[in-house]
Amino acid sequence: MLILGIDTSCDDTSAAVVEDGKRIVSNIVSSQSDIHAKYGGIVPELASRRHLEMIMPVVDEALLAAGISLADVSAIAVCHGPGLIGSLLVGCSFAKAVCYARDIPLVAVNHLEGHILSPFLETPAPTFPYLSLVVSGGHTSLYIAEEYGKYAEIGRTRDDAAGEAYDKVSKLLGLGYPGGPVIDKLSEAGNPKAIDFPRAYLPETLDFSFSGLKTAVLNFLRKERGGQRTGSSSFILHPSSLLNDIAASFQAAVIDVLVRKTEWAIKKNRIRQIALSGGVAANSGLRKRMKEMGEDKGIGVFIPPVFLCTDNAAMIASAGYHHFLKNEIAGPDLNPRAYLQL
Ligand code: KG4
Ligand code: ZN
Repeated sequence: MLILGIDTSCDDTSAAVVEDGKRIVSNIVSSQSDIHAKYGGIVPELASRRHLEMIMPVVDEALLAAGISLADVSAIAVCHGPGLIGSLLVGCSFAKAVCYARDIPLVAVNHLEGHILSPFLETPAPTFPYLSLVVSGGHTSLYIAEEYGKYAEIGRTRDDAAGEAYDKVSKLLGLGYPGGPVIDKLSEAGNPKAIDFPRAYLPETLDFSFSGLKTAVLNFLRKERGGQRTGSSSFILHPSSLLNDIAASFQAAVIDVLVRKTEWAIKKNRIRQIALSGGVAANSGLRKRMKEMGEDKGIGVFIPPVFLCTDNAAMIASAGYHHFLKNEIAGPDLNPRAYLQL
C-alpha cells in the first residue's frame, strides 16, 4: 500500500511516497535554509510563501521519483501540527484539495509522532515499548512509545529546545541558520573542556532546560573575552580557534544533559531500547555518545540516518499508514494547529 506524505510544518517543503509504512519509495525535501540564513532564524511569513511556491513541484517530484501517479496512492498523510501556522496551512490546504478532487482518503499526522516513528523506516527497527528522545528545533522531549498511537511524554524542555539553543548560539557567533550543522562541524577542531558551560540537569525531573546555557554563551562572549558585537548582533572572535572551543564546549554541555537524562529515563522506566529523532539527532557527537552509552548499558540504540532525523515527509507517510489501517480518516474540516498535543 502506497501513502503519499506531506510535511510543511516549518521551513522544509517535503513530500514522500512510502510503501506499507516502512519502505521509502521517494522522499523529496526542498530546504529553505538559504532564505532564512541571513536572519539567523526562520521568518514565518517567508516560510509560508516559499511553501506555496514549492508544494506542487515537490509533490510532483515525489510521485515522479516513485514512478507512480495519484491514482496509485491509497491515502495522503499530511502533517497538521505542531508547527508554524502559515506553513502548516499550505500543506493541509493542498492535501485537502487533492483528496477532495481525486476522492483519496486524507490522514492527519502529528509532526512529533512522525519523528517518534521515524526509526521504523530503517532496519533493524525498535520494538514497542521503547524510549524516544525527540530533539529538534521546536521540541526536546522524552516519550515512552508504547504502541502505534500511544506515546507517554515523561519529560520536556521548560524553555528552549536543544535545536533552538544551537540556532541562537549560532546567531550570536555570526554563523547563520541553521546552527546545528555548523556548530557540529566547528566542534570537531575544538576542545570540549575549554569552557565550563553550565549543565541544567534538573535532578528532580526528566524535564530539560537550555536557555541558561545559551545565556552563559552570551555572557562569555560579552565579558570574559571581550568579543566585539557586529551590526548584525553577532560577535567577532579573536583568535578564531576560540570559535572552535566555544562550539565544542557548548556542544559538550548539550550532549551531557541529553545523554544523562536519557540514562535516568531508562533506569526509571526499566526500558531496554532507545530511539533518537529530530534534527539534533543528526549531531555527530550526540550519535556517538548515545551509541557508547547503549553499548555500555546493554541497551539497543536506534538512530535513523541524518536525512530521516531532520524534517521529512517519509516519517509522516509512515505514521499515516498506521492511522489509515485503523480507519482514522480526516474530513475536509481538518484545520492545522500550531500547538497540537500528541
Ligand atoms: O527536526 P528539524 O529538522 O525541524 C524541527 O522540527 O524543528 O530540526 C531542526 C533543528 C535545527 O534547530 C537545527 O539547528 C538542528 O535541528 N540540527 C542540528 C544538526 N542538524 C540540524 N543540531 C545539532 N547538530 C546537527 N548536526
Ligand atoms: Zn521536526
